[in-house]
Amino acid sequence: MTAEQDERAFRALTQKITRARGLACDAYKDRCLRRRIGVRMRARGVHTFADYGRVLDADAREYDLLLDALTINVTKFFRNVETWRALAPRLEALWRERQGRVRAWSAGCASGEEPYTVAIALAEAARATGQDALLARARVDATDIDRASLERTRAAEFAEATFSEMPAELVRRYFTAEAPRRPLPELQGLVHVAKHDLTTEPPPDPPYDLIVCRNVVIYFDRPMQERLFAQFAAALSPGGILLLGKVETLFGPARDRLVLEEPRERIYRRSEA
Ligand SMILES: C[S@@+](CC[C@H](N)C(=O)[O-])C[C@H]1O[C@@H](n2cnc3c(N)ncnc32)[C@H](O)[C@@H]1O
Repeated sequence: MTAEQDERAFRALTQKITRARGLACDAYKDRCLRRRIGVRMRARGVHTFADYGRVLDADAREYDLLLDALTINVTKFFRNVETWRALAPRLEALWRERQGRVRAWSAGCASGEEPYTVAIALAEAARATGQDALLARARVDATDIDRASLERTRAAEFAEATFSEMPAELVRRYFTAEAPRRPLPELQGLVHVAKHDLTTEPPPDPPYDLIVCRNVVIYFDRPMQERLFAQFAAALSPGGILLLGKVETLFGPARDRLVLEEPRERIYRRSEA
């Protein structure tokens, strides 16, 4: 098969997936799509994109397995704990300023560890300012495209391994003692779970004081990343914070509105104007 034929077959397959399941494949990096589709092709013992298309036609469950492979959802509580340490004093200041009315969005929340990390970081800000009683004023929107991840976020039952980066003291303070651990009800009350596709839908409920979108945009191509960054900048309140993943960098027009405050931790701040 020539490179051109391979490319044509790949396009036909990704268009088929988009038509069947609404996943905007053209927003993702080709390299990434090819690798993930390759995983499923090997699992089903087929060698061409066309043959894999026939597998999808014959077995609708294969679409679910493919979508699981495409939306890889590895996550942890307090992932890159130093980032959350750097964020803490900023959240405290926001908390004080907004008197607890802090609205956060975990975009691409996977199985829930990230939005609950945000909820705990807010609870700690409330505690540090002596305003625990105001915690219910805060809100964390937790969104993802992947249905199974959203179900796990709603179930909010977490296995021990996912706490490996989280300070033990915080685990004791905010989770039940027995396995699988569950966050305390006051944290669960803050987290609102919804299905949302970052590539096709506007931010769910702006303005936000904190947007956390980590290890998601790396899968998108550059034009989609630029568009998303511009949407995040517009969805943030003045003085609001954007947190990206450790290997992600903001570019495009959003750089005019978002100031890089902590380069190592990818903490950006929306200018007041
Ligand atoms: C590697 S996980 C990152 C989880 C978490 N943010 C973290 O850093 O630990 C990537 C997540 O992005 C989600 N995702 C992929 N494409 C998406 C899209 N178009 N819209 C919303 N979420 C998407 C996946 O389902 C997955 O849960």
